[in-house]
Amino acid sequence: MIRPLHPPKTAVIVGASTGIGAALARKLAAQGYQLALVARRADLLHDVCAEINQHANQTQARPYTHDVLDFAGTPALLQQITADLGSLDLFIYNAGAMFPSHAEKYNADEDIAMLQVNAAGAMAWLSPVADRMVRAKRGQIVGIGSIAGDRGRRGAPGYNASKAALHTYLEGLRNRVSRFGVTVTTIKPGQVETDMLKNAEQVRGPISATRAADLIWSAIHSRKQIAYIPGKWGIISLVLTHIPSFVFRRLNL
Ligand SMILES: NC(=O)c1ccc[n+]([C@@H]2O[C@H](COP(=O)([O-])OP(=O)(O)OC[C@H]3O[C@@H](n4cnc5c(N)ncnc54)[C@H](OP(=O)(O)O)[C@@H]3O)[C@@H](O)[C@H]2O)c1
Repeated sequence: MIRPLHPPKTAVIVGASTGIGAALARKLAAQGYQLALVARRADLLHDVCAEINQHANQTQARPYTHDVLDFAGTPALLQQITADLGSLDLFIYNAGAMFPSHAEKYNADEDIAMLQVNAAGAMAWLSPVADRMVRAKRGQIVGIGSIAGDRGRRGAPGYNASKAALHTYLEGLRNRVSRFGVTVTTIKPGQVETDMLKNAEQVRGPISATRAADLIWSAIHSRKQIAYIPGKWGIISLVLTHIPSFVFRRLNL
């Protein structure tokens, strides 16, 4: 058997059935990555894989049906995926949930569900991924957080807290693994036109999922530590995080 001199790069995207994750899958496919795409909705995952594979001369994207709340099943699935891919260069945790919210709504079940999908699910995947990459002394981990995780707002405390937890977890992981040649990139998008945006209380200048994927790829490629998508949100966040709490409380942001 003839082996290529440069085997294709490999990537896993968790939360790849729709929106930003599906757009990232198309972007990485165009860059030549071999892909493992993970999510719950098998039909949508198969559609994304079929679309990618019809443009390739061999199978480039494979679907894996999985619920990130199946914490116990995660290590075995990671092992299966890495065996199928043959290596692991890039791992993207993109799965996310956001329920409709507003300032008068109190729903602990929904807040806990968001914390589990957006933060606990990330820990269940990223802990064994980091362990594997540290042993290999190479690799890149990407977590899709949100500008919404930079402050606690009256409209969405549960979603805000879940993304803040993810950001802090990614920072700790970065401080743990960077000395072993592993990069951890935190992506903080502003609003993006996806199914999730239908649950937003206010919509402010969203960008398309394709544009978001282009900007995220650019941050991945340049091995950024933290990237706001688009970059203007970095300036907005700098201002917002410096507003004292007693003032922020009075603003309808
Ligand atoms: N849209 C925005 O304005 C915006 C802004 C900032 C950050 N983000 C973040 O960007 C990421 C992608 O969101 P999106 O906007 O593209 O929304 P989306 O279209 O609703 O995509 C969410 C993805 O997460 C997956 N997912 C959700 N729960 C899951 C579970 N329990 N197990 C496995 N996969 C699960 C979904 O797949 P299945 O349902 O098929 O499982 C889907 O692929 C999220 O982390 C979100 O918080 C979005």
